[in-house]
Amino acid sequence: MSGTTSQLSVDGKTVDMAIKTGSIGPSVIDIAKLYAQTGMFTYDPGFTSTASCESEITYIDGDEGVLLHRGYPIEQLAEHGDFLETCYLLLYGELPTAAQKADFDYRVTRHTMVHEQMARFFQGFRRDAHPMAVLVGSIGAMSAFYHDSTDISDPQQRMIASMRLIAKMPTLAAMAYKYTIGQPFVYPLNSLDYTSNFLRMCFAVPAEEYKVNPVLSRALDRIFILHADHEQNASTSTVRLAGSSGANPFACIAAGTACLWGPAHGGANEAALRMLMEIGSVENIPKYIAKAKDKNDPFRLMGFGHRVYKNYDPRAKIMQKTTHEVLNELGIKDDPLLDVAIELERIALSDEYFIEKKLYPNIDFYSGITLKAMGFPTTMFTALFALARTVGWIAQWKEMIEDPSQRIGRPRQLYTGPTLREYTPIGRR
Ligand code: CMC
Repeated sequence: MSGTTSQLSVDGKTVDMAIKTGSIGPSVIDIAKLYAQTGMFTYDPGFTSTASCESEITYIDGDEGVLLHRGYPIEQLAEHGDFLETCYLLLYGELPTAAQKADFDYRVTRHTMVHEQMARFFQGFRRDAHPMAVLVGSIGAMSAFYHDSTDISDPQQRMIASMRLIAKMPTLAAMAYKYTIGQPFVYPLNSLDYTSNFLRMCFAVPAEEYKVNPVLSRALDRIFILHADHEQNASTSTVRLAGSSGANPFACIAAGTACLWGPAHGGANEAALRMLMEIGSVENIPKYIAKAKDKNDPFRLMGFGHRVYKNYDPRAKIMQKTTHEVLNELGIKDDPLLDVAIELERIALSDEYFIEKKLYPNIDFYSGITLKAMGFPTTMFTALFALARTVGWIAQWKEMIEDPSQRIGRPRQLYTGPTLREYTPIGRR
C-alpha cells in the first residue's frame, strides 16, 4: 500500500485501489471497480472485513470497548440523558436544545396510538404466539395502515414514518404482550414519558390504578438507550438492504425485526436467561463452562462473545450496574440467577479459553435478569430490544436513502454448483 492508494496484483496485472479514510477507525480499500478491472469478486462470508457503507451515526472500537453515537460516549448518554434524547441525536446528528427536545417529545407522543383496526388485526394471531412473531407481522402490517408515509422519495413522509415507528413500537410491543396473556390492551397515556407509558401499557389493568415506579422507568429507559443503535450489525444491515430496493420503511423495520429475533443476535437476551435458569446453581457452572469449551458440543455461553467487541462490551458494564439498581429497588436481596451470572462471569473471565478468544460478557448477559425482575417474561426480551433498536434502524435507513451514492445492495457469490449440463426428461432419470 502506498499513500492513499493500494495495489493488488492479480495474474501479473496490478490494479490501483483508493484508500478511503474516515474520521476515526480503520480506513477502507475501495474495491468498487475491482470486478471491472480484474474479473474477480472479493470473498468475505459474514462480512468480517467488509464495510458496506459510509455512516456518520455510530462508531465502535471493539478492541478498546468504545461505543459512540454521533461522537458521544454511550456512558454519558446513558448517565445524563433520556432515550428520546438519544433518538433525537441519532436521527438529527446533534443533541437537542431544551426547546427542540420538548418539541420532539411532543411529536413522538402525538403518534403513540395505533389505528384501532390494528387491535382486530391482532386477533388473528394464536394466543400463545411469540411476541416477536406478532411484532414482525404487526410492524409489516403498519404499511397497510399508514399509506400516507410510505413514499420514500418525500422527506416529509420519511420523517413522519420515522416518528410513527419510534412512537408506535412501545404500543405494539405492549399489545403483543397483553395479547399473549389474555389481558385487554391499554391505550397510551400521553401525560407520561415514553418509557413510563410503555411500562403502564404492559402492566396496568383496567381494574386497578397503576403507579409507575420511577426507578424502574429510569432503568428501562437506560436499557433502551443502550440498545438504540450499534452500527452495521445483522439487523441494521438487513434494514439497509431491504431499504436499498426502495421498500417502504415499515416493511424495512419488519425485516430488521425478523433478523433481530435470532439467538446469535437480539434473541441472545432470552437465550442467556434461559441458560442461567438451566445452570440453576453455582455448583453446576464448571459443567457448563466445559460444555462451552468442547468443540464437539454446540453449546455456547449465551451473552458472551461479540463479533466486534474483543473487550468488555461498554453497554454490559452499564447494564450490570442497572441490574443491581433494579434488584435493590425491588428488594430482591438474593437472586439465584444473579449469583449464577456473577460467578459465571468471574470464572469465564479467568479461564484461558475465554481469555484467549477474547470472549467477554455482552449486553445480553445481564439484561435478562433485569427485565425478568421488572416483570417481563423471557419471550418479551427481544421485543424490548426491537423497540429500542427501531430508532437506530430508522436513522440508518434515512441516512442510506439520503446518501446519493447508494444503490440497490446486491452481493455476488463464489459459485460452486454444477457446471452446464443437459436436461434429462423425467422418464429417463
Ligand atoms: N461461548 C463459547 N465459545 C464461543 C462463544 C461463546 N458464547 N462465542 C464465540 N465462541 C468461540 C467460537 O467457538 C470460536 O472458537 P474457534 O475459533 O475455536 O472456532 C471463537 O470463539 C470465535 O467465535 P465465532 O463464532 O467465530 O465469532 P463470531 O464473531 O462469528 O460470533 C457471536 C459472535 C456473538 C455470534 C458469538 O460470540 C456467539 O454466538 N455468542 C453467543 C450469543 C450472544 O451472546 N449473542 C449476542 C451478541 S451481542 C447483542 C447482539 O448483537 O444482538
